[in-house]
Amino acid sequence: MSETIKMDMQITRATGLHGVLTMPGDKSISHRSVMLGALGNGITEITGLSFCDDVQSTAHCMEKLGVAITTGPDITIINGKGLHGLRAPDGRLDAGNSGTTIRLLSGILAGQDFDSEINGDVSLQKRPMKRIIEPLQKMNARIYAQKGNFTPLIIKGRPLHGFKHELTIASAQIKSCLLLAGLFAKGATTVTEPAQSRDHTERMLKHFGVNIIKEGLTVEIESCPHMISAPIEVPGDISSAAFFMIAASIVPNSELTLLNVGTNPTRTGIIDVLNQMGGTVVIEHERIKNEESRSDLIAKSSALHGIEIGGEMIPRIIDEIPIIAVAATQAHGTTIIRGASELRVKESDRIRNVVDNLRSMGAEVDEQEDGMIIHGPQQLKGAEIETHGDHRIAMAFAIAGLVADGTTTIRNAGCANVSHPGFFEQLLNISGK
Ligand code: S3P
Repeated sequence: MSETIKMDMQITRATGLHGVLTMPGDKSISHRSVMLGALGNGITEITGLSFCDDVQSTAHCMEKLGVAITTGPDITIINGKGLHGLRAPDGRLDAGNSGTTIRLLSGILAGQDFDSEINGDVSLQKRPMKRIIEPLQKMNARIYAQKGNFTPLIIKGRPLHGFKHELTIASAQIKSCLLLAGLFAKGATTVTEPAQSRDHTERMLKHFGVNIIKEGLTVEIESCPHMISAPIEVPGDISSAAFFMIAASIVPNSELTLLNVGTNPTRTGIIDVLNQMGGTVVIEHERIKNEESRSDLIAKSSALHGIEIGGEMIPRIIDEIPIIAVAATQAHGTTIIRGASELRVKESDRIRNVVDNLRSMGAEVDEQEDGMIIHGPQQLKGAEIETHGDHRIAMAFAIAGLVADGTTTIRNAGCANVSHPGFFEQLLNISGK
């Protein structure tokens, strides 16, 4: 664990938040830019790439697979090797804390003509991999895992064939893993999901000239002889913006402008939920570049009320539920979150950790197997927050600290770097401290 991860941060009440902020590049789009850039024929220039720890993990893996990546302050250049140009890695690949890295990359590695091994940190070692191993095996992949489910994964590269698959979980990571494997498979690969998850892979494959057909919740990809390279402008991360949207909503006398935030409709659930709760988030200057829309967002203090959240909304807010739970403590009435059992297998058990930390701040919360029930409004009190190394728990409870009595200490706050380097500096700037 690095020194920054061990750092604690202290947060006290804010009287108003003001400013104009730019978020780090969208993490999901950044991972895919580096992976698809590596598989393209030629140079891919990326602007706005996230420099967060998770995307660094993807970049280091691609470098180990023989891809040259040049990083400048404004632009990252990927020297694409073409679909069949990756080389066997010298040693084990390390996905760090990143589920997206290991799951998407496994789809690519399964169809190579070399073997590889990939592992991650202690959190990733506890996360389920059977969800990608079993369908990949149906494509003829050979993958060995601890107890058939856990890292390290040993992937014996071999020829794959396409198949038709119905996902039981709405997961962009599983869907993307299979679509990327489909790039190397003989015949068509068709994936149907139970609800729409983020569709960045589909959009970026189209941007790279791949024939991908979408009909409702079904996506089909044909293996292709080669993929072009194409420049990418990565928008700001709406999952990072979510912390600031909710901070502006719950801290009185606040107004924040968030520039150039990704507003792909599969990710904007946070704006819909906040507005349904009585929040004020205005979307301005929407524009589309490389198949992905982006906008400026203005969020203001508002009187929130509780709502029920479940069903198809869950995949659209899957990473935002910890901060929505914090907002719910400040809302009038009851907020019910259900159908979100996936939260138990994220970077930490986010249902347990949100409930425990809210209770330590004095809130009344009922834990459910697939969500939680929060009664509001409640006056939170400062507490010691156990992040369990989970970036979104650290950032959600830093925002809770802005409306709490006394001091809130975020343990191991440096884990915010997993998705948002500079988060605490931005928070200090807008609170005028
Ligand atoms: C991601 C998909 C989501 C999300 C994760 C990033 C992606 O995971 O929670 O942070 O980039 O595809 P699941 O697809 O497993 O829900």
